Amino acid sequence: MGQMLAIETHGLTRLFDGKPAVEELSLSVPEGAFYGFLGPNGAGKSTTMKLLTGLLSPSAGRARVLGHDLAEDSLEVRRLVGVVPDGLALFERLSGAEQLRLHGQLYGLARAEAGRRAEELLEAMELTADAGKLVGDYSHGMKKRLALGCALIHGPRLLFLDEPFEGIDAVAVSGIRRMLQGLVAGGQMTIFLTSHVLEVVERLVTHVGIIRAGRLAAQGTLDEVRGAGTLEEVFIRTVGERAAARLSWLAGPSRPPAPAAPSPEG
Ligand SMILES: Nc1ncnc2c1ncn2[C@@H]1O[C@H](COP(=O)(O)OP(=O)(O)OP(=O)(O)O)[C@@H](O)[C@H]1O
Ligand SMILES: [Mg+2]
Repeated sequence: MGQMLAIETHGLTRLFDGKPAVEELSLSVPEGAFYGFLGPNGAGKSTTMKLLTGLLSPSAGRARVLGHDLAEDSLEVRRLVGVVPDGLALFERLSGAEQLRLHGQLYGLARAEAGRRAEELLEAMELTADAGKLVGDYSHGMKKRLALGCALIHGPRLLFLDEPFEGIDAVAVSGIRRMLQGLVAGGQMTIFLTSHVLEVVERLVTHVGIIRAGRLAAQGTLDEVRGAGTLEEVFIRTVGERAAARLSWLAGPSRPPAPAAPSPEG
């Protein structure tokens, strides 16, 4: 693996209503890395991913993706990357197979080639039996797997996955995990993924970035970031432990008497 960077940002910032969702972010993701981007809810992970894929424009800062400046060359970047955004962006009125073929053709594949790859992807995503079903009738996990297939059909060099394991059953997670590892092991692909499932991330990634309130709190190889501990320990230490939540009406010494329940005897 050379020191070429697949993703490089400097001072990347995005404001919403004057408040920074992502602030002064300087990421470096080496080519061929499997990069896990971690952070608590609302930290700015999805916003970062949208900035890196051209779905959002930055308020300040620069980003280079696969050697192309995103501000100058976003069309070329979009051709080279595959994305599974948090909203999935699928057409509910198409079947799974149609969706994949359409995606392939939109990326310039010939009809026959798009059909061939669609079949392979349906097989890999364990969706062959549901290939003819409308996407609107797919379960959440099936949609997620289909979206991953769509992101791969044009042979991207860099794959962006926002929470790929969220809502997916354990058997499918293990299948997808092995597939993603295979893609990176070939050396031809870089993967940038966000996830909350730290145990899965820990067994998957080579590099880690931790974002907290829009700012990069840690970045490096997996071993550099976790040191002697586990990723979960580092994550909680970095992000800050929160006090256990208490619900006033469910706990505490001054709990008011429960309303009298009607007794069965009347
Ligand atoms: N379109 C938007 N308009 C206004 N605020 C937004 C918008 N998108 C994101 N934000 C805000 O930016 C911050 C970061 O959101 P983001 O979705 O990037 O977080 P996240 O790290 O992906 O969280 P999660 O783990 O819950 O997916 C949040 O405060 C969110 O409310
Ligand atoms: Mg998100």
